[in-house]
Parts: sequence; structure tokens; C-alpha cells
Amino acid sequence: MTAVGIGTSLARVDGRAKVTGAARYAADFNRPHQAHAVIVGATVGLGRVVSVDAESVERMPGVLAVISHRNAPKLAYRAHRAPIDPPAGERLHVLQDGQVRFYGQPVALIVAETLDQAERAAATLQIRYEATPPLVDQLDKRAQPVDPQGGRGHSNVERGDAEKAFAAAPVKFSGEFDMARENHTPMELHATVAAWEGDRLTLWSKSQFVVNEQAEIAAVFGLPRENVQVICPFIGGAFGTSLRTWPHVTLAALGARVVGRPVKLVLTRRQTFFHTGHRPRTLQRVALGATRDGKLTAVIHDGAGETSRYEQYVEALTSATTYMYSSPNVLTRYRLVPLDIATPLYMRGPGESSGIFALESSLDELSYQLGIDPIELRKRNEPKVDESDGRPFSSRSMVQCYDLGAEKFGWSRRTPAPRSMRDDRLLIGLGMASTTYPALQNAANARARLLPDGAVEIETAASDMGPGTYTSLTQVAADTLGMPVERITLKIGSSAFPPTPPHGGSQTMASVGTAVHAACVNLRAEIAKGGRGKMEASGSSARDPEVARRYSMHAFGAVFAEVAVDPDLGMVRVRRLVGAYGAGRIVNPRLARSQCIGGMVGGIGQALMERTVLDARDGRPVNAHMGDYLVPVNLDIAQIEAHFVEEHDPHVNGLGVKGLGEVSLVGVAPAIANAVFHATGKRLRNLPIRLEDLLHT
Ligand code: MOS
Repeated sequence: MTAVGIGTSLARVDGRAKVTGAARYAADFNRPHQAHAVIVGATVGLGRVVSVDAESVERMPGVLAVISHRNAPKLAYRAHRAPIDPPAGERLHVLQDGQVRFYGQPVALIVAETLDQAERAAATLQIRYEATPPLVDQLDKRAQPVDPQGGRGHSNVERGDAEKAFAAAPVKFSGEFDMARENHTPMELHATVAAWEGDRLTLWSKSQFVVNEQAEIAAVFGLPRENVQVICPFIGGAFGTSLRTWPHVTLAALGARVVGRPVKLVLTRRQTFFHTGHRPRTLQRVALGATRDGKLTAVIHDGAGETSRYEQYVEALTSATTYMYSSPNVLTRYRLVPLDIATPLYMRGPGESSGIFALESSLDELSYQLGIDPIELRKRNEPKVDESDGRPFSSRSMVQCYDLGAEKFGWSRRTPAPRSMRDDRLLIGLGMASTTYPALQNAANARARLLPDGAVEIETAASDMGPGTYTSLTQVAADTLGMPVERITLKIGSSAFPPTPPHGGSQTMASVGTAVHAACVNLRAEIAKGGRGKMEASGSSARDPEVARRYSMHAFGAVFAEVAVDPDLGMVRVRRLVGAYGAGRIVNPRLARSQCIGGMVGGIGQALMERTVLDARDGRPVNAHMGDYLVPVNLDIAQIEAHFVEEHDPHVNGLGVKGLGEVSLVGVAPAIANAVFHATGKRLRNLPIRLEDLLHT
């Protein structure tokens, strides 16, 4: 038996289930008499459906239903807004009208006996449109930026007079940054199996937020919440794409209701580029003013992100700029550009990863102008408190991260001048950047049950999209109960279990971990009472509002990159990445390291590969498949290291954890771009960096 508590490197408790195929993902579930549904997406970018030739398709073999706005049941679409939903606007009401708002929008659903029959019918269905040219490019002159109407990123901050200070600064940098739209592209496709029993609905569905999927689908169909159950025991990667309940979930349930049988609906890879969220393209401008000895006197950060016309997707694009460095004069502004596209959604490191790219690239540029080492420049501007509101940080190990990262990376062997390091004919560059992400925590609940044989079962609605939540929650329970991990079974991923916040925003350990801890403390008390019969205890946790008021809470880190650039072919190879993080208590060093490596791989993608390209004529994502939407694969990854500084944060939450999911992706792209500059002397402010940017460099 293994006595393993918090702080030890327990192997994944679900590892065996995953490698043997015993772990079941949404599309692995099947119901008796199940039919298959396929979505037909609009082939115009804006306009309306004028005719659907359902009759000829209905006669095809195996076809059970052809559903479009002409014959779809009217759905209740009761008001419902979750914390992950846009703060303004209204979600798509699928098949409720003939309007086409973006390319690929669902306009019909085929339900058939087999998947093959449904696909054939979907390919055959003739739909005619009245089309108008959509607006899909933020740089289009007709695009009109607007102010967001709420949300976490809505932080237009002004302290001091940044414009005036910038004008007067002895050293100035100003630059513009354009970052491409990205799609989440997890391995597991979106999938839902829907089964009705009377007016009760069960969904086996890929979701990072099962209790919200339950509430959302109940609102869409006008059902009491308890009539809907959502089950999602495993997730094959998500990175944010399964935080919201997208149209395909509604369509699976709708199809099942129309044909009176369970229905399975799995999106194609191509369809996941249409209506399951994306990281918005952003346009940013950063202006820095500094004294000759490198003290920031002005920081201006202006950013705009794309959103749909029907909803305002808001992310924290410029927020980190308000607390990252010390400066008496700071101005941030964030705006949205509504386009004829589907609504974007949080993607790993949402907001911060884009904003920090602009800020950290700018700091690097300034360091060359000043002739000051990039780490030294940052240290000279290290704030004592969160200067956006004057609150102390609950903990901030930024300087320790610079030092630990620099030591592990070997920063001292870097020669400062661009193009000064070589390996044979390759140009070598060493770059670094800071990273940060808020330490979030939201109200969560869990239940702990002592079974007759002395084993313990924990139930909580949380998901595990890959970070190792099954394992880390097991460790919290084992630690709290003083029991071996083998005696503890974690049951997660069901809306029938005690509710939790979204499995996103790097908050699962802080929120659900503390709830599991509370449930186990309460169970221990029950056991001590020597109670008879069913031994069960609930536990809840939430952030103390007084503590939240008093402290600014964030994880911090430093990322170091070494690149080799082929000066003729323009190819960039990331030889090494070293991340050093101050993220509070590390529950499981092995899983934490693994999660950070994943984040850094995502950052390589953002820096060098990922870019969803839209056809300017109709907004069609032209590279909507894994052949042309590039992500890093094993051969793109050389050596990646993650290190953690000792950080004891007595304020952030009962476990002292801050989360790693986002902070490990943020900062990677600027570290790589800064390394590319150091290698080549060429500054690239648009992502991804492409071969053609560096040809004959
Ligand atoms: Mo994420 S964007 O924390 O699912």
C-alpha cells in the first residue's frame, strides 16, 4: 500500500484505465437503438437560407429525419448565463430561424440509422442561400471597434498620465502586434450521446463544466434542471473548447427528441473549427517610456480582439499589464471588434497569453535599446505591491523565478548582442519572458463516503481534461484522511455529483481540492463520532471575501528559450525551454511538471505554428484540418524543463495552491520570439512566426 499525500509524485491513478482503453470518452458511449446525427453547416458566411430540399434526402436509405429551421421544434431558450458565457449578447438559437451569421453555422441536422447513411444524406442535401459578403477581418476599414459591456478583461485602467510621461521619456519603445486566430484542436473531438426517457434527458457529452451543461440544456429545452443529467468521466484534452455548451449538444438532444431514439453526434475535425470557440485574433499596441537606467515611466497597452456580432467574447488581454511591473503612469485599453464570425472562447491562457506576448516582447525590445540585460531590466521594475489597486500580493516569487530559471537554463553563457551566438551555420538565440495568471478560486462542493469495507468514495462534479485531477484529488483525500490512496475512489464528471466551477482557469485544485479536503475533514469528524449506518459527509469551500478584498492573487513565472535558426531556410527550432514557476504548493511534482510541459508545447504552437486562416470572401476556415492547421508534434519538441520555486502562500486558499494550466503557456511565445531576435536580429511582432519571415535572414 502506498501512503501518498500532498507533495508526492504519485503516478496517475487513472493511467491504467487510459492506456488499456477502459477509460470511456463521450463518443465511446452507446445506447440501445441509437441513431446517428450529422450537422450540415452553412456554406455561405452571411445571409439566409431560402430553401432546403429535404424531400429528396428523406427518401435515402436509413434516413430518419432531416431537420432545419423549417420543421425544427421551437425551443424554449430560457435566459441562462454562466460565468464562462459572454457578458453581453445572446447565444445562437440553433435551427430556430433561417439566418446565417457565420460560415459553417448549423443549418440542418440529419438523423439516420448509421453514421454512414447520415453522412451521405448530409453531403447530398441541397440548400440554397441568399448570401451577402461577410466582414471577417479586423483590419477591414469597415470594422468598428466597441467597448466591452462587462467581463474580466474589461479593465480600462489609467494611473498617472501615461501619454504625457511617454512623450517626455528619454527612452521610448512603441510597437504593434498582430496575433493569429487559433483553434483548440484537442485530440478528442466534441461528441454527445443524447437519450430521452419521457421528459428526462441524459447526455454523455464532452464537457469541462457538466453542471453548467445541465443547466444550459435545461434552459434551452425549458426543462427543470433536475430532468437533465450530464456525464463526462474522461476528456481527451480540451484547452477551453468544452467550457461552453455549443450548438451540437442541443442538436444531439433535439435529434433524439424528433426521432424518439437515442442519438450520437460526433463533430468532424473540420466542424470543430466552425462553432466550438477559438482564441480570437488580437491587434495590440504597446508603448513603453523609460529612464536611461531602465525605470519604466510610462506603460501604454491598447488591444482589440475579434468577437461575433451576436455575443461579446471578453478576455483579459491587457489586465496583466496593470500589475506586472512598477510604473507611475499606466494606461490600458481593451476593445472588441464584432465580425461575422462565430463567438470565440477561452483557450489556454486566455487573454494573458496574447497580452503578455505584446508586453514581454516590448520589454525585450526596450532592453536592447537601453543595453540592459532583459532579466535585470525586469528586476529594476519589480513592483512591491499590485500597483493597479495598491493591494499586496498574497505571494509573488517573480524574482526567485528569474534566478532559478536563469540558473537552470544557463543564462550566463548568453552573449548580449544579436547574432552573436552560432552553432556551425545555425544562428543561436537565447530569450526570456515573464508569465503570470490569476490564482482563481470559486465555490465548490464535494461528498465523501465511507463504505462498509473501509474504503472511501469521493464524489464531485469536476472534470479532468488531462492535468491529473483524478490523481491530485485522490492525494488530497488520502492526505486528509490519513489513508492509502488505493482505498480511495474518485468519482467525477457527473452533474449528479456536488457542483463545482468550470474545470478551467487553472482553478480546479484551488476550488475542488479545497472542497474535497473539507468533505474529508467532515467525514473524519463523522467517523470520530462513531456514528452507525451510512457514513457520509459533504464539504464546501469558497474564497474568503475578506481575503479576496485584501490581497492580489496571481501565479508568476519566468520562461527561457533557446532557438536555432537556419539563416537560409528560415526554419526555427526550439532547442530548449525552461520554465520556473511560483505557483504555491505543488500537490504532485510529477503531474505538475507534466502539465507545465504541455503548456510549453502549446506555447511553441502559438509562437511558431498555430494559425486559423479565414477565406476573406466568406469567412471559411481554409485550413480546418490537422494537415494544414499545424501543432507541435514530438519531433518539434526538444528539451523542456519545468521547475518550481518554494512558495508558501497562506492567503490564497486552504491548500495554498495557485494552479499551473495557464501560467505554463503564457510567456512561452514571447520567450521564443525574443530568442529569435537574439539569434537573428530580426524582430517579429506577429504570430505565428513563419518561415517566410526569416528566409535569408
Ligand atoms: Mo481553460 S482556457 O482554463 O479551459
